[in-house]
Amino acid sequence: MEGKYDFGLVGLGVMGRNFILNVADNGFTAFGNDLDTEKVDALIAEGGDTKKVNASTDAKVFVNALSSPRKIMLLVPAGKIVDAVIESLLPFLDKDDIIIDGGNSFFTDTDRREAYLQEKGIHFFGAGVSGGAKGARLGPSIMPGGNREAYQHVKPIFEAVSAKYKGEPCVAYLGPKSAGNYVKMVHNGIEYGLMQLTSEIYDLLKKAGDFSNEELGAIYSKWNEGRLQSFLVEITSKILTQKDDLAEGHLVDQILDKAKQKGTGKWTSQNAMDLGIPVPSIDIAVSMREISALKTERVRADKLYDRPEMEKQDKAELEKLAEEALYFSFIITYAQGLHQLADASNEYGYALDIAVIAKIWRAGCIIRAALLADITEAFQKDRLLPNLLLSPTFVEKVQGTVGSARKLTCLAAANGIPLPGITNSLAYFDAYTSTRLPLNLIQAQRDYFGSHTYERLDREGIFHTEWEK
Ligand code: 6PG
Repeated sequence: MEGKYDFGLVGLGVMGRNFILNVADNGFTAFGNDLDTEKVDALIAEGGDTKKVNASTDAKVFVNALSSPRKIMLLVPAGKIVDAVIESLLPFLDKDDIIIDGGNSFFTDTDRREAYLQEKGIHFFGAGVSGGAKGARLGPSIMPGGNREAYQHVKPIFEAVSAKYKGEPCVAYLGPKSAGNYVKMVHNGIEYGLMQLTSEIYDLLKKAGDFSNEELGAIYSKWNEGRLQSFLVEITSKILTQKDDLAEGHLVDQILDKAKQKGTGKWTSQNAMDLGIPVPSIDIAVSMREISALKTERVRADKLYDRPEMEKQDKAELEKLAEEALYFSFIITYAQGLHQLADASNEYGYALDIAVIAKIWRAGCIIRAALLADITEAFQKDRLLPNLLLSPTFVEKVQGTVGSARKLTCLAAANGIPLPGITNSLAYFDAYTSTRLPLNLIQAQRDYFGSHTYERLDREGIFHTEWEK
């Protein structure tokens, strides 16, 4: 065995292998561990020099190869496997060693693991890693949470391997306990929202504007040069023009319209409900994946109901409306996700700095977008901003585009094209910016049938009315 290694990584699947090679590229020595001999051998072969990158299937050999305090990252599927890996390492670890879970673990699991390991003197981090396989290799956005002092040992490595936005690393200590996993969960909720929006706009342009895939690819590509510049818009332009190598035409037309999910978007929605923070643009994105899964029923239902005759639209006008409505809805989706983060920060004691979160999302991660530079600025100006819609920086951006979201919503509704992400974003905006909502009537109904009482606008106190005299 050569000298001790700076960094350890368990789970040598694509993400793990890429992450460890990224660590090595940045001048740190790294040691991998996986039960699968083939994966261990593949990493050693790809690493080229065992003094820099080495690996073993044996947990004891792996742990003993690392310098103290040991910094061990897990890139394994979320769930029971994380607990099993922790147990396999524990007999060989020393006080103050650090375990970092880089997977999409549920945040309460991270809290449980942190408390369990703290009793044994081991630091546990939940660190969301975003950017897919390519990001892991070339620079992901990393969202770590855990013990602040222990983070100092991990910081140089994470800052070196992370993506850079104008030279600034896309990683920062976010907060204690499960702060990192929580932030990554909401990142994924926003990711669901943006994916839904980009896909429904594609649908609308195709159906109402008769745009071809090539034309659509060119539109998304053009948008990616402007204020909509983002990873998801960029890949959409490439996906739309990808030729199929198994059949004639474009690949996108042959892909089954059933989207799967691993759960992070649903967790975001579920937890937002628990907190009492509305995130309808994310909720509907989760629901749309569920509706997509009901393909057989959808096909049956489609045959039972007539759809309005599609009125074809002027292409240039439609493209303009679509760009503006998409930009508006992107803003609303980020606003909702960040609102949830601000609330969760108080609820769970994370002390999150939203400006820092927006900052580390500017590059490397799946939701990276030009818009995040403006969002960072808005929260830097007012660190306690409860909602992006209250930022003076955003008033003009929203004001200038909401009209197109209205027009597109009407057009889609009149023609029977589902535009749920845009529609929900618009309804959220209209409700959030209303001084008066009809919930006075709901309060009256509650009091009517259940004596639940109500408050009044014109005087203090709690009131009840005997409605049926
Ligand atoms: C990322 C992604 C990544 C993963 C999603 C997929 O940030 O790199 O979010 O974590 O691709 O979790 O999620 P679904 O399978 O639920 O769509």
